[in-house]
Amino acid sequence: MNGGIIGMPTETVYGLAARALDEKAVHRVFDVKGRPRNHPLIVHLPRSTDASVWGRMNREAELLADGFWPGPLTILVDRTDLVPDWVTGGRDSVALRVPSHPLCAELLRICNDGIVAPSANRFGSISPTTAAHVVDDLGTDLDLVLDGGPCDVGVESTIVECIGVPQVLRPGAIGADEIESVAGAVWSEPVGTSRAPGMLSSHYAPRARLVLVESLDEARSAVGNSVPILWNSDSTEYARTLYADLRRLDDEGFELVCAVLPEPAGIGRAIRDRLSKAAAPR
Ligand code: TXA
Ligand code: MG
Repeated sequence: MNGGIIGMPTETVYGLAARALDEKAVHRVFDVKGRPRNHPLIVHLPRSTDASVWGRMNREAELLADGFWPGPLTILVDRTDLVPDWVTGGRDSVALRVPSHPLCAELLRICNDGIVAPSANRFGSISPTTAAHVVDDLGTDLDLVLDGGPCDVGVESTIVECIGVPQVLRPGAIGADEIESVAGAVWSEPVGTSRAPGMLSSHYAPRARLVLVESLDEARSAVGNSVPILWNSDSTEYARTLYADLRRLDDEGFELVCAVLPEPAGIGRAIRDRLSKAAAPR
């Protein structure tokens, strides 16, 4: 990696990767994304056992790491002295994740270090789920894009804050009920003001205006036949293709798109969250 910034596949979405301790490379990541420098980044690690080097892993954090790493879970804990301000935006906490994507895992093993990776899209737009999306968004600004195929999950990792009673700050493929079964009590939604900046209400936004409905019947009566309708009865499959579908419909020039909200269970909750943000007024 040596000072470079690269497009990196993960099982959730593609990331824009740089060595966490390389200040210049991390600043390039912020600049290329157009992201404010006080928005903290997730540190990706090769092994669960590296977590305590970067964060103060308490009992709940350890249980969640054992239960779900490698995988689509980010754990927020207090940072250690190793972690620089340019990673956390000056916060005392750090977000950690051990990804399961084989090519990503291999890259992390070779670097044998913490790698920051925000989603590899311009600030405020839709996360990429293929290498081609990354090239479309950021191609000429990157040193390399690794093609690991389409992402299996399709939406960003679940973020759980493990400082006090665990709280789900961002829903993802791993649902609040699964978190609870491993870590004990959990708030399924953040309590109080948001502690994860960057989760603004208007986010993950396509160019098209998005109309959200609760059922396919409602979709047909709301928009008729000339507007594309996004929907899949299988929420796992829905998540996997959602961002690629939104990008494709933008490319095809649709100004209006309708999406059916899935049941708010498991990954369905994450889909509802991202669709609501994509539909928020800008
Ligand atoms: O699935 C994912 O998590 C992807 C892949 C590439 O790993 N990454 C990702 O990164 O979604 P990003 O930067 O797009 O979103 C990370 C979120 C941001 O909303 C950020 O504010 C929050 O995590 N976050 C990171 N560190 C934090 C911290 N110390 N305190 C609070 N929030 C934090
Ligand atoms: Mg992002």
